[in-house]
Parts: sequence; structure tokens; C-alpha cells
Amino acid sequence: PGFIAEVLPEIDSTNTELIRRARAGRDAPTLLVAERQTAGRGRMGRHWQGGPGEPGGALAFSLGLPLAPADWSGLSLAVGLSVAESLHPDIRLKWPNDLWWQGRKLAGILVETAGTAQADGRFVVIGVGINVEPLEGGDFSTRPAWLKALDPALDAPTALGRLVQPLVRAVRGFERHGFAPLAERFNARDAFAGLAVRLSDGTEGQALGVAANGALRVQTDTGLREIISSEVSVRPL
Ligand code: BTN
Repeated sequence: PGFIAEVLPEIDSTNTELIRRARAGRDAPTLLVAERQTAGRGRMGRHWQGGPGEPGGALAFSLGLPLAPADWSGLSLAVGLSVAESLHPDIRLKWPNDLWWQGRKLAGILVETAGTAQADGRFVVIGVGINVEPLEGGDFSTRPAWLKALDPALDAPTALGRLVQPLVRAVRGFERHGFAPLAERFNARDAFAGLAVRLSDGTEGQALGVAANGALRVQTDTGLREIISSEVSVRPL
């Protein structure tokens, strides 16, 4: 099954726009690309700053489609894995949602549902923001990485062209088979593998990759914990 592809010169947020459309009954599978977002959104209500304001400075797009997986857990991991695999062998995955390169954030993923629960599933919006050019200034706790540093040939259109079809296939594959078949490939790119990490609740331990359901496994003094996405945040110690 195909999807509609649309490029807008400017929009507040591609995620917000697809959610608006779904609420208005427009729920055909759609790829929406923005050359500029004026109110890009990140996870936990954070602002997403996209590039230096030039078209191509960042790649921002959302894929919206009705989806009915048996289990939703691990969808954003499946998305990150697909994007990383399409772009470059050196891209690591920072559980649960970020793409990293050399210890710095390269891209972020924001998965949302439009809230229009239907019997056969929900409309899901998968937003991906990738730094393409170096970002200057801004409110960043760590200086972000950018795609052209990995491969100068990867400008925004080239990157998008490479990742879209595999991403749509990955999302459809996730709908049928869940995250379990992808866990091993995720772990091969796991940025935390074997590292000491601290959870936001203060617990410290050693990260041991993800389980079949996408939970992060952390060995602590008091035993092995499986951290469900969004339950706690994790950072390297
Ligand atoms: C994060 O790292 O916190 C997630 C960032 C997600 C940014 C993308 S850019 C395209 C889409 N539209 C948005 O408003 N956000 C996502």
C-alpha cells in the first residue's frame, strides 16, 4: 500500500499538522516533509530546533498512518533502527529514541497517536528530525552531531530518499511481527551496550541491551531490571 507524499516550505510542526488532519478525518497514510518548522516539538514537551533556518539544514518529516499492532511497545525503537540502518553503519541507537554518532545526538524521534481510537487500531504519527548541517548555538546540553559530518553526500533530499521506503516497510513489519525480530539488530547498534548507566530514579547499573519487548535491561546491585520505554530516563555514568 502506498502513501501520499507532501513537502511544505513551512509549518509549525509536521507531527502537529498530521494529528490535526487525522482529527479532521483525513487519515490516509501520508509522508509530510517540512523545509522549516516554526514550532517543532521534541519528546517530553521539549522544543525541537531544526537547523540554522535554511532549507536542508535539518531534515524534518512525519509519517502518519493508521496502525493496528498487537503490541505497541518498541515502535519508536523499530523506527530508529530503520533510519539508522538506512543512513550509516556508524550510527548508534540511544535507547529509547535517539540516534547518536560519536556520543552526540544526531536525530530524534517523536511517536504520537492522534487519539482517535478506532476498533481496528489508531492513527500514529512518527516524527523524525535529523541534523544535516552543523547547528550553531541553541539550547543544547550536549553539542549535537550532524549528518554531513558522517557522509558529505548525505544532504536532506538524499537522506530522505534513502530512508523512506525502508521506514514504511519497517513500520508495516512492526505492525505484523512486533519488535522481537528486531531486538538483535537494535543491540548491535546500542550506544549503551555494557556501559554503566544511571536511571532518573537514581538507580545505577550496567546496560545490557534491549529485551524482545524493547525494554532496556539494566543489571543493578539488587537484580536485573527491565526498563519500559518512558518509565525512566537513562544516561551514561
Ligand atoms: C526528540 O528528540 O525529542 C524528538 C524530536 C523529534 C523532532 C521531529 S522533526 C519532525 C517531527 N515534527 C515535530 O514537531 N517533531 C518531529
